[in-house]
Amino acid sequence: MKLWGGRFAKSTEFMVDDFNSSIRFDKRMYKEDIEGSIAHVTMLGKQNIITLDESAAIIKGLEALEIDIEANNIEFDISAEDIHMNIEALLTKRIGSVAKKMHTGRSRNDQVALDIRLYIKKEIKVIDSHLYELLKVLHQLSSDHISTIMPGYTHLQKAQPTTFSHHLMAYFEMFKRDRDRLKSTYNRMNQSPLGSGAFATTTYNLDRQFTADLLGFDSICLNSMDGVSDRDFLIDLLQNIAVTMMHLSRFSEEIIIWCSHEFKFVNLDDAYSTGSSIMPQKKNPDIAELIRGKTGRTYGNLMSLLTTMKGIPLAYNKDMQEDKEVTFDSIDTINMCLPIFTKMISTMTVNKTVMRAGAEGGFTNATDAADYLVKKGLPFRDAHEVIGKLVLYCITNNTDLSSLTLDEYKTLSPIFEKDIYEAISLETCVNLRQVIGGPAKEQMEKVLDINKNYLEI
Ligand code: ARG
Repeated sequence: MKLWGGRFAKSTEFMVDDFNSSIRFDKRMYKEDIEGSIAHVTMLGKQNIITLDESAAIIKGLEALEIDIEANNIEFDISAEDIHMNIEALLTKRIGSVAKKMHTGRSRNDQVALDIRLYIKKEIKVIDSHLYELLKVLHQLSSDHISTIMPGYTHLQKAQPTTFSHHLMAYFEMFKRDRDRLKSTYNRMNQSPLGSGAFATTTYNLDRQFTADLLGFDSICLNSMDGVSDRDFLIDLLQNIAVTMMHLSRFSEEIIIWCSHEFKFVNLDDAYSTGSSIMPQKKNPDIAELIRGKTGRTYGNLMSLLTTMKGIPLAYNKDMQEDKEVTFDSIDTINMCLPIFTKMISTMTVNKTVMRAGAEGGFTNATDAADYLVKKGLPFRDAHEVIGKLVLYCITNNTDLSSLTLDEYKTLSPIFEKDIYEAISLETCVNLRQVIGGPAKEQMEKVLDINKNYLEI
């Protein structure tokens, strides 16, 4: 018998129950559903909408049910459709007709809007704690590699020397912003929809502020129709997750490149790599590749929910049941990816000498050679031209800037003196970049210090 069976002369086809039901995936919100019902029923008792005894009996029954669900002693039923009606049906079976008062002054529409908000409030905290752990590891790695010189790239062509510390702290800033984005999503959605009813509230004298306080919301949704019918906060979250996954994916891509035989900048720990079933020599960065791959599904989930929501008239429509699988999938994906990525980078070895050798090739000090001439009075555009010619000369003669003789330098410009060699050493190139935000040792130390405060470590 359906909880809404009164109006129906026939029972639904199994096929319909199966199609309509969301219990398969929304059962993971059982805790939030029970938490919400306890708050609602406490309020109903306080407002004399039901008696205090009835309220207490329902709460006791819900608490016992939660223990049994947790112990895996409960079978959910697809014909009871979703977690909300499953719990009500189970409670009624256990404590009798008093359970039927639980839904007074409430609709599944405000119930589901409440449950999903409570659920993602918890999950945002979990994602944030994974991001925090990643930031701590990045900060440590960065502090260890403040003097580790590596080539920096643009267009994946060697550009200028930098340090591994500088490179890692770029990601640090990205993940910091990801935490900020999550925080603002959290703050924006921290409003209770409970009491919105089907969409127009109810005629009972509900105390919405009371349930909002009990459930830890900052405030209440000021329009009950909005309270039940928007899912923008889930779209915000899916967007936040997609952006973090994009950052993780770029980082993963770099790790994949750095592990390649051609680069060898890093070695992944054996415990975080995999082999090939046919090629005995292989050690593959599967974890990084999978993170890169899974980024796609989080983009898909965001697009999916945006598309689901785009044509739905106010207020609740069943289309909105489709919000959950994509949300849960993105949450599960990021909660798998973040900790494994953090472990992978905290256990990898960094090949400092290979990185440095990489920075030595490819004329990464050409900008500094031009700046040397500028500091001696040549306009930058002319200096650029001189060094361009020198680079071409080096390429033709298979040599590099630091191996040229002073005479060779002087044939292109008489301004060159012996101090050119010091001016284009990799250490000078890095450590003369004394602008805040740059790779020079003192600047990196300042930034690492600022971020130490941020992390409160
Ligand atoms: N399972 C539904 C969902 O996830 C709950 C709300 C159902 N409300 C309704 N009026 N049919 O959206």
